[in-house]
Order: sequence, then structure tokens, then C-alpha cells
Amino acid sequence: MSNTIPLSQPDITDADVRTVIAALRSGRLSMGPYVEEFEALVSRRLRRTHGIAVNSGTSGLHLALAALGVGPGDEVITPAFSFVASANCILHVGATPVFVDADPRTLNVRATDVEAKITDRTKAIIGVEVFGNPTGMAELAALSTKHEIPLVEDACEGLGGLIGSDRIGGFGRIAVFGFYPNKQITTGEGGMIVTDDDRVAEICRSMRNQGRAPAGMDGGSGTGSWLAHERMGYNFRLPELNAALGVSQMGRLDELIEARQQVAAQYTRRLMTNGDLIVPTIESDVRMSWFVYVVRLSDRFTAADRDEIIAGLRRHDIGCSNYFPPIPLMPFYREQYGYRPGDFPVTEFVSQRTIALPFFPGLTDREVDLVCQTLDLMMTRLTFSRQ
Ligand SMILES: Cc1ncc(COP(=O)(O)O)c(C=O)c1O
Repeated sequence: MSNTIPLSQPDITDADVRTVIAALRSGRLSMGPYVEEFEALVSRRLRRTHGIAVNSGTSGLHLALAALGVGPGDEVITPAFSFVASANCILHVGATPVFVDADPRTLNVRATDVEAKITDRTKAIIGVEVFGNPTGMAELAALSTKHEIPLVEDACEGLGGLIGSDRIGGFGRIAVFGFYPNKQITTGEGGMIVTDDDRVAEICRSMRNQGRAPAGMDGGSGTGSWLAHERMGYNFRLPELNAALGVSQMGRLDELIEARQQVAAQYTRRLMTNGDLIVPTIESDVRMSWFVYVVRLSDRFTAADRDEIIAGLRRHDIGCSNYFPPIPLMPFYREQYGYRPGDFPVTEFVSQRTIALPFFPGLTDREVDLVCQTLDLMMTRLTFSRQ
């Protein structure tokens, strides 16, 4: 038996399996009752009028921008420090990404930095709760209202999180969640758009389904509308099997958030006294729905040191990763827009020193301890090898 501690692991129960099997046996594998129930569960939880299930967070972000009419010639402001899909969705609609550097404390963008990038071509602002942290999102929403530029909330990492009494997914004109297996709940692959805007919801529903009118969702039952396409669209539909898993997982969302909270607290207790590590900064009014647990090495360490520590952890069968490399420095952004090292100094500094540690609900205190001991060992070994 392997002693590997993975970076993440989905939490799948027998009840989840039974629900997926029931969907499989139902004979309806696309656009059926599980999709509808999953949409209702997520939108009700977020107190938003509409939920539109899609086959990934990325397709949800793509549709959000398309529904707002963003296209070639438009600019969309987005963080330099995030998962690449927060920017790729802008390329998918043919618009131009305008990147904003991170706040070194929260790792989110500051509203003042976003405001400085607004031009008369800015058609949307993408706000991300990086690693599930909603700090600064209310300020972004206020900025969006002030300038009358819609906020698209990339909430892919934060289902269930709160700041004060405000829910992650409640700030943007449109918010999008992702359900990849490392997320708080999973559908295998999947995503959900939520909004209170009837028109946006109608366009998203249509565009995820090849541009069909809502009546065309009958799966070809004979009305003829299945082949009536009102607009250009995509196949971004979430299959029933995946939606069934989502329905079952939503029933355990609070339990899963609590289990993740316990693991995060254990890491923080264990690592906060290490002067060479920066643990996540969480403001007192935030109730985190933890996505990942990411520590940062102090400025004594270089990117090469961090990579050596990651390699050492992996040699000890501990899954870990360098969340996230700066988006503008990825080769296709550099080639297309000419970004160079030094353009986003905070993002670059931070992303050279991050280590995402194993993080999932079933991680035991003993495993957390083993990860922390191994991390200490790798850091100490590196310090000695330098002397
Ligand atoms: C911030 C952010 N945006 C977008 C996505 C894309 O979601 P998906 O992988 O479901 O396409 C992710 C997923 O990891 C994410 O973390």
C-alpha cells in the first residue's frame, strides 16, 4: 500500500455513488431533473434568482462574459495572481485582458489598483476570491457600481464562504463556481453560473445549449425546437450523472466546509510559529470556505529554494504544488502582449515562494503533522546546505 499523501482528494460517500447510479438508471442522461435540482440547490443557497449548470467553471466564465456582450476591442480587468482560467475566459470571447497585481497580504486585488486600470474600453471586471478568501470583494462590487462596469465574480474557489453576512457568489452581477475534484464540492467536472439578472440568465441558458431557446431543452421530444438555434452557442451542458453527484454533495456542503476548516486550523496551529513561513491571512469577519492551504516561504528563500522544497516533499510522497504562477508571464500571454518579468512585482514575488500543501476533508491530524515535519526538515536541510 502506498503511503502517499495526495495534494487533494474528493470526498465521495456511498450515498453519492447511489445517487449517481440512480441517475444512470433513470434513462435520462442529459438536461433532466438532476440538473434542475442542482441549479435550485446552489442558487437557493446563494439567494440568487438563477442557477445555470455548466460543464466547467471555465465555460461558466466564458458564458458570463459572452452574456454581457464582451467581445473584440473590449478590455476586461482581471488579477495577475489567479488560476489561468480567470484570464483565458477573456481570450475566449476575443477581448483583451488587463492585469492587476496582488495585495501581498490577502493575495486578492485592491479596488484602488483596479480603478487605476479602468479605461473607456473596460467592459467588465473579474474579481476572484483567491484560495477562497473574499476579502476586498465588497470594495470591488462598490467600484463596479460607481463606474457602471459589471463585476463578474470568479467564485470558483469559494463556495460556502462568507464575509460578514455576505456570501461568496453574491457580489457579482454574475458569479461562477467550479466543481473540479479539488473543490469544496465536486461534480467531477462542472460549474454553475448564478445571477439575479433574468436576461443574462436566459442568454447563458441558451448559449450553454447550442444557442437553443429554453423550449429547445426538450432533448428532441418532437417539438422541433431542438434544431432551432436562436444564436451562436456552445455545448457547455452538465451531464445528469455529474449533476446527480452535485445534488448529493450539496447536501453535505456544511459538513465538508467544517471538515476543511478543521484541517486548515490544524495546519495553522502547527506552522504559525515557524518564522520562515507565512500562513494565510484571514480577516476576523471572514468565514473561510477553504479551497487549498497555501503557505509562503519568507524572503530568505528564492524560487529555486521553493522548487527544491517541493521536490523534497514529493520525494517523501507528499503531494504539493506551486499555486499559482503569474498568468501574464505564461508563454502565450508574453507572446501576445509582451509582458516581462518585473511587470507584476507582488504577484511574481509571492508566486515564487508559495507551496500548496495536501488539503482535503479526510486528512488526519497525524498526516498534517507528517507534512509539517517533512516541510520543516526540507527547509532546515536547505538552510544547512547553504552554509
Ligand atoms: C479561480 C478559478 N477560476 C476558474 C477555474 C476554472 O474552473 P474549471 O477547472 O472547472 O474549469 C478554477 C478552477 O480551478 C479556479 O480556481
